[in-house]
Amino acid sequence: MALVSMNEFLPKAKANKFAVGQFNMNNLEFAQAIVEAAMEEKSPFIYGVSEGALKYMGIEFTVAIAEAAAKKSGLPIALHLDHGSSFEVAMKCIRAGFSSVMFDGSHYSFEENIRLTKEVVKAARAMGVSVEGELGTIGGVEDDISVDESDANLAKPEEAIRFYEETGVDCLAIAVGTAHGMYAGEPNIRFDIIEEVSKAIPVPVVLHGGSGVPDEMIKKSILAGVGKINVNTENQVACTETIRQVLAKDAKVYDPRKYLTPAREAMKAVVREKIQLFGSSNQA
Ligand code: 13P
Repeated sequence: MALVSMNEFLPKAKANKFAVGQFNMNNLEFAQAIVEAAMEEKSPFIYGVSEGALKYMGIEFTVAIAEAAAKKSGLPIALHLDHGSSFEVAMKCIRAGFSSVMFDGSHYSFEENIRLTKEVVKAARAMGVSVEGELGTIGGVEDDISVDESDANLAKPEEAIRFYEETGVDCLAIAVGTAHGMYAGEPNIRFDIIEEVSKAIPVPVVLHGGSGVPDEMIKKSILAGVGKINVNTENQVACTETIRQVLAKDAKVYDPRKYLTPAREAMKAVVREKIQLFGSSNQA
């Protein structure tokens, strides 16, 4: 199967109240762990690729790995640019074979964010590529982008609704209290904002910063209208902790396969659990 746009599964997710996971791809082992977990769960999923990860892996390798996963698994998989910072980078990804892009104009003024997102939607739609927009600023650290949590601005429901109506995005990330990275305590998620926005627009709300959010809060956010949930840090932690343990146990290890194999298994276990929690098993 070829890579698909998020519209292959997001409308069904919203209608049937489940969420599709965006699992970030940082290297080949991440990609393999994610697709293997999804195959066992028969779940659609989204490979999220940040600009930093794109620089690290190279755009050709990134697309080739995702295409190989789609072909091998037969699952509906979207290859999605995460937090795209410009029209140019979004177009570069689409030309290279991405089936979905996020344009993150949240650091621009509201009107400018609408104007720029509309340009991306117009071009992407012509290519059959789905688009995620962002409103409000999500706190935490991701790649080189760091937003102090006190500077993170929650989305205003009336602005989010207008943003959707003017841009026609396929899903909308709104800042509702989650943050990228792990949490010191528990996040304070504004389910009321999710619900108000979700009721007023036909597309799902996206929850960024899915790592470390307690299971009950994830379930509640899906019931309130979240249809896409992003997870990266939990896989990074599982990968690195496993490698640390293997190396600490045996200082003579030098074959990367000796620590990458268990690291990949650890990530696969994380992804399977998330897929089950999000309710997307057997939805492929
Ligand atoms: P976490 O790293 O907190 O899981 O967030 C991932 C994310 O939102 C990617 O956009």
